Amino acid sequence: MSRSVSALAGTAAASFLPWSVASRTVAAAWDEAPVDPAKADLIYRTRAPRNGEPRLKELVKDWITPTPQFYIRSHGANPTVVADQFKVSIAGMVDKPMTFSIPELLERFPKSSVTCTVSCAGIRRYEFIKIKQMKGVPWQEGPIGNAVWSGVRLSDVLTAAGVSSDAKHVWFEGADTVVDGNAAFPFGGSVPMSKTREEDEKLPGVLLATHMNGQPLLADHGFPLRTIVPGYIGARSVKWLQKIVVSDKPSPNHFIADVYKMVYSGTPVEIDETAPIYRYPVNAALCSADNKDGKVTVKGYALPTGQKGCSISKVEVSPDGGKSWVNAAMGEQTGEFCWQFWSATLTIMNPETEVCVRATDSLGNTMPESGPWNLKGYLYNAWHRVPAKQLLN
Ligand code: MTE
Repeated sequence: MSRSVSALAGTAAASFLPWSVASRTVAAAWDEAPVDPAKADLIYRTRAPRNGEPRLKELVKDWITPTPQFYIRSHGANPTVVADQFKVSIAGMVDKPMTFSIPELLERFPKSSVTCTVSCAGIRRYEFIKIKQMKGVPWQEGPIGNAVWSGVRLSDVLTAAGVSSDAKHVWFEGADTVVDGNAAFPFGGSVPMSKTREEDEKLPGVLLATHMNGQPLLADHGFPLRTIVPGYIGARSVKWLQKIVVSDKPSPNHFIADVYKMVYSGTPVEIDETAPIYRYPVNAALCSADNKDGKVTVKGYALPTGQKGCSISKVEVSPDGGKSWVNAAMGEQTGEFCWQFWSATLTIMNPETEVCVRATDSLGNTMPESGPWNLKGYLYNAWHRVPAKQLLN
């Protein structure tokens, strides 16, 4: 018997649905797979592979992003996954290489959950594209979401496998194949070993997640298993995770060795010498507006950098293109690696002006007035500007 992904999306929310409910779900190959009905409301920037972001006014309705509103970023087709046969292996610089099915993983290790925000490094790339055409998905402010992820801690799996004291990085590889010209390779990446240890009772350094918002992962989000790396760019949270390798070096996978790096000329030497992106810069966006008799209440999100202990300290909104600023009220819900909602009520005197937003964090990092260019269009975090006219309608 098979159970479709859309049927699962409609299952009543449970805090941590038994994984066996989903154990027969099969994600069809991408060319056969229509958009999951649960995801029909996204704005698709590309459909093959699927890359979609939610409408901004929907995005700031709930601090925990409902799964249907959570962006999808895939570099290739969803792999065909036969869940009952799916296994994840751990090898490399470990005493005992091991392989687990999903039920084995969930039976053997304590369950753990984390609420954290995941965002694509290409967020707001269309701002770069407005300046100069570039390759890459033309993302606006929507490839970001905050979810409750559940599964087991990577640190527990590493302890069971026995990690060598010389190990410095953990590599991840997905079951998907990314095609680039004549080349075809799996999506992968790695995190420094120190990140796997950056954890406490409440917060796993890295989670091997089987569930999102209390339900088994949807195919588009990496069913049956993915990594979730709180505070790191989405690219490090590898979907359809089937291989973990412990090493003394970062992974040689294309998505950490060559791309997801801030480069300017893109020469092989520059790429080679540039460190991979792990964390975010402080960022914010205005997502919705409600105009009542000329008083406009605007609402949005701010994203902290993912540095442990560092949070958003203020969000300022300018009703006049950056001449004057008011402090926004901060939403009550927070979390160490979570976005922060904010709102402000403005009187806009000139409909020809722009409303601007900038966030600052507890270390004093703030969003610059204009964005520094980089070749791949990553991590745009200049003031978010919205034409006032758009908000007055
Ligand atoms: N994992 C695999 N295997 N393949 C991918 O294409 N995309 C990455 C990451 N993990 C990707 C992947 C990127 S760039 C992002 S931003 C996040 O997944 C997006 O996760 P989501 O689609 O669940 O929102």
